[in-house]
Amino acid sequence: MNASNTTDSAAERAQDFVNNARLQSSIAALAAFGGRDDGGVSRETLTPIDLAARRHLIDYARSLGCEVMIDDCANLFFRRSGKTEQSPVLTGSHADTQPIGGKLDGAYGVLAGLEVIAALNDAGISTIRPIEVVAWTNEEGSRFGPGTMGSSAFVTPSLLTSYRQSVDKDGIVMGDALDAALKEVPDVPRRAMAEPMDAYVELHIEQGPVLERANAALGVVTGIQSVLWYRVVCTGMAAHAGTTPMNERSDAMAAAVAIASQLYARAEQEAASNMRLTLGRWHVSPNSINTIPGEVEFTIDVRCVDASVLVRFERFLQDLTTQHAWRGRIVFETLFRREPTIFPQDMRDLIDIACTRATQAAQRGLPQHLTSGAFHDAMYLADHCPTGMIFVPSKDGISHNAAEETAPADLTLGVQALAYTIVELANR
Ligand code: GLV
Ligand code: MN
Ligand code: MN
Repeated sequence: MNASNTTDSAAERAQDFVNNARLQSSIAALAAFGGRDDGGVSRETLTPIDLAARRHLIDYARSLGCEVMIDDCANLFFRRSGKTEQSPVLTGSHADTQPIGGKLDGAYGVLAGLEVIAALNDAGISTIRPIEVVAWTNEEGSRFGPGTMGSSAFVTPSLLTSYRQSVDKDGIVMGDALDAALKEVPDVPRRAMAEPMDAYVELHIEQGPVLERANAALGVVTGIQSVLWYRVVCTGMAAHAGTTPMNERSDAMAAAVAIASQLYARAEQEAASNMRLTLGRWHVSPNSINTIPGEVEFTIDVRCVDASVLVRFERFLQDLTTQHAWRGRIVFETLFRREPTIFPQDMRDLIDIACTRATQAAQRGLPQHLTSGAFHDAMYLADHCPTGMIFVPSKDGISHNAAEETAPADLTLGVQALAYTIVELANR
């Protein structure tokens, strides 16, 4: 924490009051919920561990003087009053993780927002607008699909009806998990969905290699690439592995592997457009060494900055699944579809000023402007209010992995940039 000059603006003073030690200890405290021996975190959405982490966040936010609220999708809001009741400036991210994730993906953005509030308290700054920090429910989408459920439902509440039908791999229905989460917090008042917000700013680790390779400590995010998720189901007939002649089989795995290899070949053809393809989840039935698979289901995650590449990809998938010659059946279903997001120029300009001041004070290079390869809750908030994002580098570009890491000094710079941006917005 630096002593600050009384002639500095409120945004500058807020930036200078960010406390590195407090930030690091709040990250470590949240990482203990679902913490693993390898340094990673397993805290999938609405699990008992996630509910305990939510209680920890509520207690921490209350200790900073925040009012806490929750909405019908169990998004948690921590509010610091302003001098007026005008619509708040919102920041935050998500506190759920991948099945095996790191301690920063999402958690950093929530804790950064709370660190901004702690810094404002220390600096004795009151803002014109209230500031709210949000922990969105189920950004990851690994347990209940699709991802970014909480933020998209907040912006479009009618989505919640279908989201509640989503079922996890153990047969638990999202609506039941949600009701249980809401019941856990009888002391937290309900707030309406889709409430007007003045602006939304999300701070996140980059999760890719761009900033590290450019030796840049901070990134101004210009937008988010488009994403499509599908589920492909190949249905053949289970039969004996030793007795069924090869030419008489209806082998669901043979069909799935053939489709997969053509999809990978397609990704190679699209290398110039930087299309990214992942076939991440597979279910084989009956999953026995000596039975021909009767059914194989796999997921496709495909992304590109250029949405027209994904339109071509979908046509290709359609042709592949309808023209594949074999005895069985292949169907595919879209699970998630989002066009590219572009953040407004004035939000990018403000974030650039905030990042530049923070990096100059630390004698680091200028911020880089980049597109996000990962999706984020900011993608849906961009439909609701002026939205922007700040990135900090990820060591070796690794994320969705226990080894996810960012240098503590970079984490602090990110929060400094966030503090400046939020206070400028909250004093407009
Ligand atoms: C978010 O976790 C993503 O998959 O981009
Ligand atoms: Mn994330
Ligand atoms: Mn993630």
